Amino acid sequence: MRLGVNVDHIATIREARKTNEPDPVYAAALAELAGADGITIHLRQDRRHIQERDLRLMREVVKTKLNLEMATSMEMVKLALKYKPDTCTLVPETEDEVTTTGGLDVVMSSDKIEEVAGNLNAANMEVSVFVDPDVDQVKACHRLGIKVIEINTGEYAENWNNSYCVLELDKIKKAVLYAKKLNIKILAGHGLTYQNVTAIAAMDAIEELNIGHSIIANSTFMGLSEAVRRMKELIEKALLPLSK
Ligand code: PXP
Repeated sequence: MRLGVNVDHIATIREARKTNEPDPVYAAALAELAGADGITIHLRQDRRHIQERDLRLMREVVKTKLNLEMATSMEMVKLALKYKPDTCTLVPETEDEVTTTGGLDVVMSSDKIEEVAGNLNAANMEVSVFVDPDVDQVKACHRLGIKVIEINTGEYAENWNNSYCVLELDKIKKAVLYAKKLNIKILAGHGLTYQNVTAIAAMDAIEELNIGHSIIANSTFMGLSEAVRRMKELIEKALLPLSK
């Protein structure tokens, strides 16, 4: 299972002072050297963290895969077509949210998603759609010909240490199984931490986890390389067969 590291919050610190450090481009390079299999950035419409300059430089610097999280707006489609990240992940975006709050409603906004995905696919970019763990959403993606989904683990992550955890894991498992049957490539992410990642990483049909906040938060104490290495190790261990 691959680990995609989201470096947005390095830019959050930089933007707190509107200065030039810390640089998320350095973070991307360090994360790759520490074992990240991909780098994710979310160029938000309000530019609160990642800037266009970061996307431009990361397109040159990132040697693994660059995943751009983006709203389904024409402004973002134009930027994606200009810089050509390897993957574009379509996410919902609202002005007041602190972070992405849920998956895209593919059932309700299928026309928009089809149009945006069509434009990006035509330019040879992989399109992934961030969806809640809901079979109807997976079905709707399949109807649109979407080949990659990222399942939102946010609700599970919020409830991993209480009794809702089983319910949330079950929703994720059902969505994963359904997507697998439809031959959809499955990624997952949101809210994953060193404490809660194992149950998700143990689902071997998931090909990649995208993790940001927890890795960057812990990097302030242990350094980014160590924070990435520890997360990679937890993910790898989750898939090991139990020792005899
Ligand atoms: N996946 C998506 C689609 C996201 O929007 C985010 C947050 O930017 C993440 C994964 C990573 O979430 P977190 O920062 O909570 O690890």
